[in-house]
Amino acid sequence: MWTMGRCGCRAVAMVVLLLLAVPAWSTFVVEESALMVTSPESLKGKHQSAIGNFGVPQYGGTLSGTVSYPSVNSKACEAFPTDQFKSVPGQRPVFALVDRGDCYFATKVWYAQQAGAAAVLVADNKQEKLITMDSPEEDPAASQFIQNITIPSALITKDLGDSLKKALSDKEMVSIKLDWRESLPHPDKRVEYEFWTNSNDECGPKCDAQVEFVRNYKGVAQMLEQGGYTQFTPHYITWYCPQAFIESKQCKSQCINNGRYCAPDPEQDFSVGYDGKQVVIENLRQLCVFKVTNDTGKPWKWWDFVTDFQIRCPMKEKKYGPECAEEVIKSLSIDVGAVQKCMGDPNADQDHPILKHEQDAQVGQGDRGDVTILPTLIINNRQYRGKLDKSAVLKAICSGFEEASDPPACLSDTLQTNECLENNGGCWSSGDLTACQDTFRGRVCQCPLVKGVQFEGDGYTHCEAKGPGRCKIGNGECWQENRDGVTKSACQDDNAGCKCPVGFEGDGKNTTNGCVDINECTRRTKCQCPDCTCTNTWGGYDCQCGGDLLYIGEHDTCISKQSQPSKLGWFVTLIVLAGLAVLGVGAYVVYKYRLRSYMDSEIRAIMAQYMPLDSQNESQNHMADEI
Ligand SMILES: *[C@@H]1O[C@H](CO)[C@@H](O)[C@H](O)[C@H]1NC(C)=O
Ligand SMILES: *[C@@H]1O[C@H](CO)[C@@H](O)[C@H](O)[C@H]1NC(C)=O
Ligand SMILES: *[C@@H]1O[C@H](CO)[C@@H](O)[C@H](O)[C@H]1NC(C)=O
Repeated sequence: MWTMGRCGCRAVAMVVLLLLAVPAWSTFVVEESALMVTSPESLKGKHQSAIGNFGVPQYGGTLSGTVSYPSVNSKACEAFPTDQFKSVPGQRPVFALVDRGDCYFATKVWYAQQAGAAAVLVADNKQEKLITMDSPEEDPAASQFIQNITIPSALITKDLGDSLKKALSDKEMVSIKLDWRESLPHPDKRVEYEFWTNSNDECGPKCDAQVEFVRNYKGVAQMLEQGGYTQFTPHYITWYCPQAFIESKQCKSQCINNGRYCAPDPEQDFSVGYDGKQVVIENLRQLCVFKVTNDTGKPWKWWDFVTDFQIRCPMKEKKYGPECAEEVIKSLSIDVGAVQKCMGDPNADQDHPILKHEQDAQVGQGDRGDVTILPTLIINNRQYRGKLDKSAVLKAICSGFEEASDPPACLSDTLQTNECLENNGGCWSSGDLTACQDTFRGRVCQCPLVKGVQFEGDGYTHCEAKGPGRCKIGNGECWQENRDGVTKSACQDDNAGCKCPVGFEGDGKNTTNGCVDINECTRRTKCQCPDCTCTNTWGGYDCQCGGDLLYIGEHDTCISKQSQPSKLGWFVTLIVLAGLAVLGVGAYVVYKYRLRSYMDSEIRAIMAQYMPLDSQNESQNHMADEI
């Protein structure tokens, strides 16, 4: 019993209570993600799409792909014989476009996923407002594969579907970007979320999935709560018994507080097993455990209680009930008396403040819509769509934080999408370095920061180390060679790009011939003096002059070893220097003298206007000293 009507409608409540079988007819707010057609030009723009309630929507992220519409099996109600939606490496992911009808939404998505699709767009088969594609509840076969659906899916309008099909039949390439970044509001550094659940653990696949989720997710939930990153509140749906039936056997066995708060019979059979009434009481106990622990500043204990209760007090072992529950409460050092006091008397003919509040909260407020599917997760007051699975939910919660305020859990390994494992996720890579990063927002191609050196580039085809220290990393991808203990490199620390050192030529790139030695001898660029013998070396050359001459590399010339020219040179230099010194001193003296006399006369003239003459000398001296 996981689908229910609006609590305000008595006739519906009646059906729920007495017939205990409700079709999934309820309307609720359809959570949408933006769908952008990026090509062809004629369809470019944003379109509506409704997020499917299974699979893993990429909350906080985007996904781009090209659309493929199968020519046979277009409703995807049968398995595809080949990997026809699998994208080849280097190509963008393929979104399968399939038609609504003939089988469950989840079946279509499952078959498309198996054929390699990265996402599924289901085209509606009639013109209507979009609905949320939910998973089938009663089909045990379907529940087997629903848990294995890992791709996102969206329902699109018939009109959009028709346009896409037309474009494809015209042999146009249809590209689409699905964008979940604004699917949840992300106003601040704390995410408020609610989990609408039930203490009933015997309701088939959906209950099992819920139990599984609570167990897996508990640790993360507690960590986020303890870190102050989230404020979590559990909720439980209740119905009420229509006035006319309060005295009926059905209402008596399914309700407390004189028909005010009811739950359907877990076995859907009044004569066997547990009654709805017991479920309401356990729901209330869980609410009270939350209230008591929340009041003492440890709201995360609710997760411990609920998991322990599921494990220790399951219905199938006939342990579900107050005795077992209270043992669990005690084992967690929660105040049993406070919980009992909070629960009050189930036979009282009056409102219970907590259950009343739960009933009121069920009705949609603002953007949220009524809570009609159990279990339901509400994040920042929006209904979460997709699989109840630890990493999918965490991804959604993480997308609810204000940009750049994600708690560590959002960046941890558990969230890695591992898209980088295959072909570096299509990002730039070189040796051990890659621009691919798995984040909860999906894989991003971002040039890495390695040992304090930032790489820059587009992240897809090109990343290059920039700035100081860049040569320490893979030698800046430049040529480098070591011969006889001498290393030559084309990398320059302060500069981007590679440049061959002196004596080498080439593009400087990390290839064998990135830089090649220049043979100065055969090029006849150096050592061209008569009688010289030239020997090329690695990165240079050796030049020997003939006879008694000495080779001067700077001038590429030979000079006599009798050092006369050099002595003469010294002498000339000395004379020139002495001459220059004399000239300099002379010029300074003249300059000082002229400046002083000019200042003296100026100052004298000014001072004379203000001061008696006997103070004139002092002022003159003081001013002159400063020059
Ligand atoms: C779903 O996945 C589980 C575990 O990976 C596997 O054992 C099971 O066979 C899968 N179910 C289907 C229908 O493929
Ligand atoms: C839990 O405690 C917080 C802070 O003390 C409070 O704001 C919140 O309303 C409480 N929730 C419930 C359901 O009592
Ligand atoms: C440079 O090239 C050599 C040989 O081709 C290769 O082993 C090395 O990994 C390359 N270095 C970088 C940083 O690409």
